[in-house]
Formats: sequence, C-alpha cells, structure tokens
Amino acid sequence: TDAHIAAIVKAIYEKVPFDLDIGVICGSGLSNLSAQIVNPIVIDYSELPNFPHSAVMGHKNELVIGQLGSKNVICLRGRFHFYEGWSPKDTVLGVKVMAALGVKTIIVTNAAGGLDKSFKVGDVMVIEDHISIVGMAGNNCLVGPNDDKLGPRFPSISSVYDSNLNKFFAQIHDEKKAELNHDHELRKGCYVGLSGPNYESRHEIAMLRVCGGSAVGMSTVNEVVQAAHCGLKVLGLTLITNACLGTAADEYDLPEPNHQEVVDEIKKVEPFVQSVVSTFIDRVDIESYK
Ligand code: HPA
Repeated sequence: TDAHIAAIVKAIYEKVPFDLDIGVICGSGLSNLSAQIVNPIVIDYSELPNFPHSAVMGHKNELVIGQLGSKNVICLRGRFHFYEGWSPKDTVLGVKVMAALGVKTIIVTNAAGGLDKSFKVGDVMVIEDHISIVGMAGNNCLVGPNDDKLGPRFPSISSVYDSNLNKFFAQIHDEKKAELNHDHELRKGCYVGLSGPNYESRHEIAMLRVCGGSAVGMSTVNEVVQAAHCGLKVLGLTLITNACLGTAADEYDLPEPNHQEVVDEIKKVEPFVQSVVSTFIDRVDIESYK
C-alpha cells in the first residue's frame, strides 16, 4: 500500500540525506558491486517495515546507498523470488521504493541458462526484451486494483529496456573488454522469466527456443513490468551460467544445470561485470531520463 511504501521511504530518508540517481537490483553476478560504493550507508532489510528477504545463496539482505563515480546509487543486495514463496507484488516492492525515492533509471541483473546455442558460459547478455511466462500464467505483479498514481491500468512495456542505455552499455563493455583482455563477446537478446525453482524440462527448453527466447531464468520480469508501470527505464543484464538442455540428440550428453555450477560461473565473471557496470554508472548520462 501507499502507507507501506511511505514508511519504508521514511526509514531510508532518515539515514540518507541526498537524492538518488540510479537503482541497482544486484541479482546473481553483481552482489558485490556495492563493495565499490563510496561512503556506504547500509540498511538491513530487517530494519525496513515489512520488507521481504531472500534466502538464496549469494543474496545478502541489505540496501547499500552511496556514491559510485559521479552518481548516487541505491543497491538492493538480494532480490525476492516468486519461487521463495513471495507474491508477485512482494517481489517488486524494491522497484516501487526506488521509484518513490525519485530514481528514474534502474539496472537489473540475473543469472540464466543460455537458450541460444551460440552463447557461451560466461557471456553477458543485454536484455532487449522479455517473455514473462510467470506473468502470462497469471502471476503478474500488476494484477489487482491499479494504483493510478503510479501508472495506467494497461501499461505498455515495449520500450522499458531502453535502447540508448543498451547502446551505451555495449560501448563501455567493449572498452573494458579491450582494456582487460576479456575473452567474451557481449550478447543481446530476449530473457524468458519463469517461476522456477526447478530447471526447465527438455521440451520446455525446446518450446522457449521456438518462442524466440535467448536466455532463461527465474527472476527479473515482474520487476521490469513494475518499472515500466512506474515510468522507469531499465538496463537488464544477464550472465549466462550454463547451457540449457533441449531435445536435440547431442544435448543428451551434456551435464545438467546445477546451482553450484551457476554460483561458480558467476564468481568467475563477476569482477569483469562489476567493472563494466561501475564505469557505466559513472559515465551514463541520466539527465535525459529525469
Ligand atoms: N534456468 C533457469 N534459471 C537459471 C538457469 C537455468 O538454466 N541458470 C541460472 N538460472
């Protein structure tokens, strides 16, 4: 409710006396971005009224607020997943709070399996669009009475993944790739968001490929729908942590996805992704989004 968001915002403003420029939802792969924040103000989720928490490995449960380069940022270290039992609305509370704090641009990150067979483990994909299977199946965060103060009943989400942010990210990525001799190309594509928590069946993977999905994961899509509803622009980043197993004959010999592999692959590319994202945040021009 409005009162709930207002209470959370009040608790944050008691500790944070400045305006915020960019919000970051640090999913898998970016959980330590906040270590680079200067003059960090850390607020444990438990200090905020009725704020959810995440039990997933690698997800801390704190807001970290401070400076990254030229920007004031707010990082959610740990997101809330539908598969943990949070309602679709619970999973997007952080986005509403960021919007209420005046943030207009958010960065969301996640780990995902590569549906596109040309993708390699360790690649970063810029999300150009998504397919919200979780939302299409009835678990859309906007179901229920519309909050007209936030946005319209029937919001368009066709340009929430902002092409200018994507282009600028690609530029910074390629600069850092050359500077640090990083050996992965930047990918672009469509993120498919499912409820999880099981990894997909072979025929689900085959179906998602036909649908045009490039990567598949268990988060992000409702947060982005909420961002669109609040009028925010999104840079979405996916770390490809594993291959997906479909129905082709040669896919029966491949190792099955498992969480330890996902965590290990994230650790390997995390320093690179962090350095690209922090440079992006420092240099991105957000005035045009205000
Ligand atoms: N499927 C769904 N979610 C994931 C995967 C996957 O293969 N890898 C990391 N998160």
